[in-house]
Amino acid sequence: MTRPRILVTRRWPSAVEAVLSERFDVVLNTSDAALDPGQLREALLTFDAVLPTVSDRLPSTLFEGDAIRTKILGNFGVGFNHIDIAAAKAKGIVVTNTPGVLTDCTADIAMLLLLSVARRGGEGERELRAGQWSGWRPTHLIGTKVTGKTVGIIGFGRIGRAFAQRCHFGFGMDVVFYNRSAIDPMEAARYGAMQLPTIEEVLAVSDFVSLHCPGGAENRHLMNADRFAAMKRQAFLINTARGDVVDEAALIAALEQGIIRGAGLDVYETEPSVPERLKAMENVVLLPHLGSATEETRTAMGMKVVDNITAFFAGREPPDRVV
Ligand code: DGY
Repeated sequence: MTRPRILVTRRWPSAVEAVLSERFDVVLNTSDAALDPGQLREALLTFDAVLPTVSDRLPSTLFEGDAIRTKILGNFGVGFNHIDIAAAKAKGIVVTNTPGVLTDCTADIAMLLLLSVARRGGEGERELRAGQWSGWRPTHLIGTKVTGKTVGIIGFGRIGRAFAQRCHFGFGMDVVFYNRSAIDPMEAARYGAMQLPTIEEVLAVSDFVSLHCPGGAENRHLMNADRFAAMKRQAFLINTARGDVVDEAALIAALEQGIIRGAGLDVYETEPSVPERLKAMENVVLLPHLGSATEETRTAMGMKVVDNITAFFAGREPPDRVV
């Protein structure tokens, strides 16, 4: 029996690439160079499965015409707003993602950003490496105490809950959250958290606001100029969700005008480009989309994709089908 032809769009952890090579007729991307739209289109025409990731763009134009060969997109990543799901569905293409395995590591990165921006870790490291640290003094790089502060979480899914747990039980913070659907108060209490009815009510009481909702049309620019104005003046924004959840221009204005005190960001509106005005601000901590970047998690994500496409080509339901 001929083995399905599979294309992997970027370099993956070697353990996962080894399993893929055993099971499928696989083309790996050993150079790790991003594929351009023409190459992605060609992939859809010539491979049974394409395994893209969150930095590949698959708009509806790539799915046009009758010659599409791809039957499944096994996405490496939990977010899938980079794929035009309606267009894939119209072509009968199954799309899967990798939920569950990146919860802890993404919550850890949100915590890292919160602590770094509150305690001015980035500024301190830059100063020390530049040879400009003149020694301990009582007023040097004074930050914001975290313990006892209120954190507001937007989106109380797996990662929002894991982050709440860290904030409350690890750092003694009060936790409030907004979630579109109602969460059983007993369930919320397991994470030391309390649901509030609106985003505005969360913003009004939070010293730190952390985003944990999906990207895409439904949440595009959820954080806009009005919502920055609704935050406490000394508050910080943390974003490990998706860049498009924040109106980046409005965020820059809010930071420059002192409407909020600082931000910790792992994701951006047009990655990998990051506005120079953000980079110029000392009260902003910027990471290059590292939420899931641990050996354990990236391998687990890859193995989830393997499970999904293995099930699909064996005629079984893929465990993480999103469409
Ligand atoms: C995802 O899986 O969507 C993450 O953004 C990758 O870290």
